[in-house]
Amino acid sequence: MASTRGQFSSKSGFILAASGSAVGLGNIWGFPTNAAENGGGAFVLIYFVLAFCLAYPALMAELIIGRHAKSNMANALQKISNGKISKNIGRLTGFYAITTATLILSFYGIVAGWMLAYLLEPLSTTVGLTSTSTWLTEFSRSRNLLFSGLFIALTTIVIRAGVEQGIEKWSCRLMPSMLALMMALIIYVMLQEGALEGLKLYLIPDFNQISDPKLIASALGQAFFSLSLGVGTMLIYGSYLSPNENLTTMGAIVTLVDSSIAFLAGLLVIPAIFVAQQKGLTIYNETGHLMAGPDLIFQTLPSLFQGMEAAGLVISLVFFSLMTIAALTSSISMLEVPVSYAIENHNLHRHKAAWLIGTITFVISSFIIMNFDPLFGLVITLTTEYSQPLLGFMMCIFATWVWHRDQILSEIRNGHPRIEVSLFWKVWPGYVRYCCPLLILIMLAQTIINH
Ligand code: PFF
Repeated sequence: MASTRGQFSSKSGFILAASGSAVGLGNIWGFPTNAAENGGGAFVLIYFVLAFCLAYPALMAELIIGRHAKSNMANALQKISNGKISKNIGRLTGFYAITTATLILSFYGIVAGWMLAYLLEPLSTTVGLTSTSTWLTEFSRSRNLLFSGLFIALTTIVIRAGVEQGIEKWSCRLMPSMLALMMALIIYVMLQEGALEGLKLYLIPDFNQISDPKLIASALGQAFFSLSLGVGTMLIYGSYLSPNENLTTMGAIVTLVDSSIAFLAGLLVIPAIFVAQQKGLTIYNETGHLMAGPDLIFQTLPSLFQGMEAAGLVISLVFFSLMTIAALTSSISMLEVPVSYAIENHNLHRHKAAWLIGTITFVISSFIIMNFDPLFGLVITLTTEYSQPLLGFMMCIFATWVWHRDQILSEIRNGHPRIEVSLFWKVWPGYVRYCCPLLILIMLAQTIINH
């Protein structure tokens, strides 16, 4: 092995890093817009139920396997298998996860690059660089290439520094700053005219939509993406966790932080859409739906900020800093997946592995940028709507059908000696063995039918 394995130095370091992975563009952008499109409060309610009843048990499977195996996903799934066939399937599943994590990073890096460009725009406007400001906010290959490159380089620099000095140190700095920025923005938006209307749409459930299969599929997909499940990020973070920590509590805290921040983001974004309407901006598209995708983040909200003049510059700066920070704490966890594999299986030094894989990711991002229309949406759909649930399914199968129940028990007993008499141990093994895989399969079928 090229270097000794890293480890989180404290409980809070792990919590902030794992929550940092979970909290990202999926929470601040994806969750509120999904809620707005799918019945507001009804979606929020279903999301919370699914996050705790389905995503949390799957997260636990990853954390337990990771901490036990102390290695990347390809090795970990082999390690917990006994037969030759299951070992091979484990290795292949691990490769599939590593590829998926790299592909997710390559599109995530493009979107995060847009956030970075929009973050710089208020600064260039303040110093009077009008043409630069236009370039920063207009869709062009040159801008997309430059900023996705910059963002991926930033991610690489953090990962290159290792678990404690890179992932943990930066998560501990960035997560509290992100929360502070978000709270400041929520207070500001709530004081604006029109915010209350958005708040109502967000919080009052439209119970007519609650059993809509589309709503349930969206909420489940959102929960899986948001908790970074399936691709081995939580597994590798779990592998850096000390054996003395109580895994069930750690997983519950991460799920709670992730869902709470998604909820808070809704308190910011949905009222902001209605403040924009109050200021005369269009918030519904031609099909009568609330603006949701890139139009919302890169048109509606920036137009709202512009209308606020000097205050708007500061708000814009704060909003896009928030987005960039949230994206960075997630992207580092994605890059750690292939980097840990390169270090552990190919004996590469961490510095070399980080730059090599960072460069490969940037090459893939560039390819997507050069063929944006056919590839961008396709990569997102394939990785997040198909691969992630499929990998989550495999993880549940490996944790409860392939691995021995006694070994799982002895792993979670570390840090929780009385686990055997807890509600968790009474419910979890059977639940992850039967219910989770079945529910994930139903969700996948739903996605296939809808496409
Ligand atoms: N959880 C992140 C978000 O909500 O934006 C996205 C993510 C991170 C997905 C890490 C997958 C992953 F491995």
